[in-house]
Amino acid sequence: MGNIRVLERSVIERIAAGEVIERPASVLKELIENALDAAADVITVEVSEGGKKCIRVTDNGCGMDAEDAKLSIIRHATSKIKSDNDLWSIASFGFRGEALAAASAVSKFSIETKLASGKSDGIKIVAMGGEIVEQGHFGCPAGTSVVVEDLFYNVPARLKFLKSDHIEFNHIVEVFQQAALSHPSKRFELLRDGKQYMVFPVRPDPKGRIADVFGQKIKEEALFTVEEHADDYSLQGFVAHEDYSKAQAKYASLFVNGRAIKDKSLLHAFSSAYGERLAHGRYPLGVLFLELDPSLVDVNVHPQKREVRFSEPSLVYDFIKSSVRKALSFKPQEEFQFSAAHVSPLNTRDETERSYEKKTVAHVEKRNVFSSPIFSQKEKVYPLAEANSFEPLQQQMHHDASLELPLPGGNVLSDVDVLGQFDRTYVICEASGSRLVLIDQHAAHERIGFDLFKQQYEASRIEQQQLLLPETLELGLEEASTLLEHLHLFPRLGFEIEPFGERSFVIKAYPSLLKVSSLPSLLEQIVHDLSQFGQSAALEQSLDRLFATMACHRQIRGGDQLSSLEMQDLLRQIKEGNVTHCPHGRPILIVFEKNEIERRFKRV
Ligand SMILES: Nc1ncnc2c1ncn2[C@@H]1O[C@H](COP(=O)(O)OP(=O)(O)OP(=O)(O)O)[C@@H](O)[C@H]1O
Ligand SMILES: [Mg+2]
Repeated sequence: MGNIRVLERSVIERIAAGEVIERPASVLKELIENALDAAADVITVEVSEGGKKCIRVTDNGCGMDAEDAKLSIIRHATSKIKSDNDLWSIASFGFRGEALAAASAVSKFSIETKLASGKSDGIKIVAMGGEIVEQGHFGCPAGTSVVVEDLFYNVPARLKFLKSDHIEFNHIVEVFQQAALSHPSKRFELLRDGKQYMVFPVRPDPKGRIADVFGQKIKEEALFTVEEHADDYSLQGFVAHEDYSKAQAKYASLFVNGRAIKDKSLLHAFSSAYGERLAHGRYPLGVLFLELDPSLVDVNVHPQKREVRFSEPSLVYDFIKSSVRKALSFKPQEEFQFSAAHVSPLNTRDETERSYEKKTVAHVEKRNVFSSPIFSQKEKVYPLAEANSFEPLQQQMHHDASLELPLPGGNVLSDVDVLGQFDRTYVICEASGSRLVLIDQHAAHERIGFDLFKQQYEASRIEQQQLLLPETLELGLEEASTLLEHLHLFPRLGFEIEPFGERSFVIKAYPSLLKVSSLPSLLEQIVHDLSQFGQSAALEQSLDRLFATMACHRQIRGGDQLSSLEMQDLLRQIKEGNVTHCPHGRPILIVFEKNEIERRFKRV
């Protein structure tokens, strides 16, 4: 007798269910999507014990009649598509007809539903492990309420993999917020163990909802509008200034035809639009809605429908990157007005400075030096080390002090004139001995800040600035508990922070070297680093990394236009500090010798 046998139906159902339902948050995603497909505009979610004990989603959508309610938990039963042709024109979240079947196969499950149209009674269906055990008339309002209790009660292997209530609840919140982000015109409410936890009221525009979801603290002027339309694609949404960047990718929300997706390539397109403005290991904060003809995207890639395949992936990548980059190139103040025509950026500097900049930039442009291949070769770059971790960072800092090369810092800059700024990133100078010097303004400023922090910390006197109006910092539950655990370390770093509720903190004072607007993202980064360092004892050995993070949040960035005075001041500080590299090991300046330039022009 052969060894092969067809599995029992209940085993098949459980295997299939495992692909769709991984944890409580996957149940919630499916139930919310069903409510949205049913055109509900009020969706209430109740969870207990992180969703492991119970998840109930109640909506005021179209509801079902008795026959449909019974069919809804049968695998491959759906009202959303009829044939495989429909797979290429999907306008609903669901189409596989398996979410309720999967959820009911691995839980104690019930549906209470009543058609919004017609006069039929409500109905209730109760199922255990996928089998209907009870059904009958039920008095309920129009709409649907689905309850999933004791998830994986019959799949102990899966149950073991679930994390603490706290972590599972964080996943629930993420799913809930994603749904709310893409549907500002609907009301969403989340109750945790019987108490209201989060509520998103109806908002006429997506921007209001973004503020609700990410916290009111994103200043409106730091949100840039993305609005691009090409032949087959359109991209809309909002992206935040890099000061609001996050240590986790989950704040960069991407929706394709309304569906929240996780896609590394699109995330990369989104992040790389910020270029140098985004520090290493940071992700942008923003919400992007890509709309395209359904025939150009396959959503039937994964049972959880989190992934999609594009027919023209590189076109989509370029479209996202260039659209976000374009949005970021406008001054936020303009965006604030949401004018249709984007005109040239506001310039708040005084006339003298402006004419200086015009002159110097024109001077450089006329020579057009930067399009010359000379700069892609042979330039003298002072030693560059990779520094993605704390170890090499420390080594580089020590290495700097003993550079054997002719010191580019103080020496090269002993007699220099500032010519102008290139690409709002590099300061161009003419140095004695007929040398052209390019300074990376962000790298320079970071290093200067790093040294200052270090000096002040070692002398136990980090200069502190009180906030007139304390800022509140809202963190995820895990991050909040990490901060709470390490809170005693912050006064010496120049912060005065107090806990305020379960996930909130009040910042009362901060190191005056920092930029106020970057405090929340900096603190998030520090908290993230702390969770990596583990023991608080390790912090002492990780201070260089911490100072580097703090230095990264000072005033001048790549992408900032500098006045002549600011450029002169930067030069002065580089000279005084005699610095050569940023805390991450990148060079601060590059020197081009005149004879090298002449050789390139074939003058010699
Ligand atoms: N909240 C609801 N309101 C009204 N009808 C619903 C609701 N939830 C489910 N249904 C009905 O039950 C059917 C089965 O739901 P289920 O989620 O299992 O599959 P689906 O949404 O069609 O596809 P998918 O498996 O991709 O989610 C749906 O097609 C829909 O007709
Ligand atoms: Mg569904």
